[in-house]
Amino acid sequence: MPDDSGQNKEQKNKDFGVGIPVATRGFFLKGASHLDWGMKNRLSKIFNPATGKALMLAFDHGYIMGPTSGIERMDLSIPPLMPHVDCLMCTRGALRSCVPPETDKPTVLRCSTGATIFRDLSNEVIGVAIEDAISLNAAAITTQVCIGAEYEKATLANLSQLINEGYKYGIPTLGVTAVGKEMARDARYLGLACRVIAELGAHFVKTYYCEPGFDEVVAGCPVPVVIAGGKKLPEAEALEMAYKAIDQGAVGVDMGRNIFNAENPVAMVQAVRKVVHEGEKPGKAYDFYRTLMAGAK
Ligand code: R5P
Repeated sequence: MPDDSGQNKEQKNKDFGVGIPVATRGFFLKGASHLDWGMKNRLSKIFNPATGKALMLAFDHGYIMGPTSGIERMDLSIPPLMPHVDCLMCTRGALRSCVPPETDKPTVLRCSTGATIFRDLSNEVIGVAIEDAISLNAAAITTQVCIGAEYEKATLANLSQLINEGYKYGIPTLGVTAVGKEMARDARYLGLACRVIAELGAHFVKTYYCEPGFDEVVAGCPVPVVIAGGKKLPEAEALEMAYKAIDQGAVGVDMGRNIFNAENPVAMVQAVRKVVHEGEKPGKAYDFYRTLMAGAK
């Protein structure tokens, strides 16, 4: 006869929740439900699960342009902005030399190289080994594709390479639509580029806002879309562009010049944050920017 003491008594005190079904969860980002845990965990560091959105700070411009205005001294200009963003997008050189390693901000690591503004920007290769991305604790890796450019095929191969290597280690890939001077930034072109990037397997896409038709660019892309800021605009216009992009389905911005070249970058990044995470209307966000600026004087 079994002994009803010791182990059996302990077993009776356990709670297995018998009868309560295990929840089958979805995932808050488009197209990501079937990814592995590591991918989802990293994406959840870039995108805030509470809002589903991300404010990314792009300062990778130097890898093609050298000391870009506003980020001549990344060690001085970037740290004051960091508390207000969800994520950094930069090169490994910038990260190691100018970003304090104590930060808890995830990084999307620029991995392409081979071109500068003096030559064909589409002529790139992948210059960062996946092992180095891992050693830098990258939350995602990224390269650009130049659809319709001379080296289109090479840029698509670069993206595929990152996706393949990232999958081995649970690191998602951001595909960036680079637009050559000769290309129209319209919904037809950007929609095609975003869709190609997603079909190749990128986990999220960065593109430019366009009108009309940005809502269709987003709808035709089966993974999340964030916008680049592009050239510097007056602050009110940059906030309006961010608002329209979010309103039409973008899940964030990966913005550089319109933040670090603003009259007051720390105020601007907070205003952009309000638009991205709170859906603040652009007029109110601009008022907020002006109020912060006035307080800083
Ligand atoms: C270009 O070199 C990079 O991909 C930038 O990260 C991107 O263009 C976003 O920066 P911005 O908002 O200044 O266009």
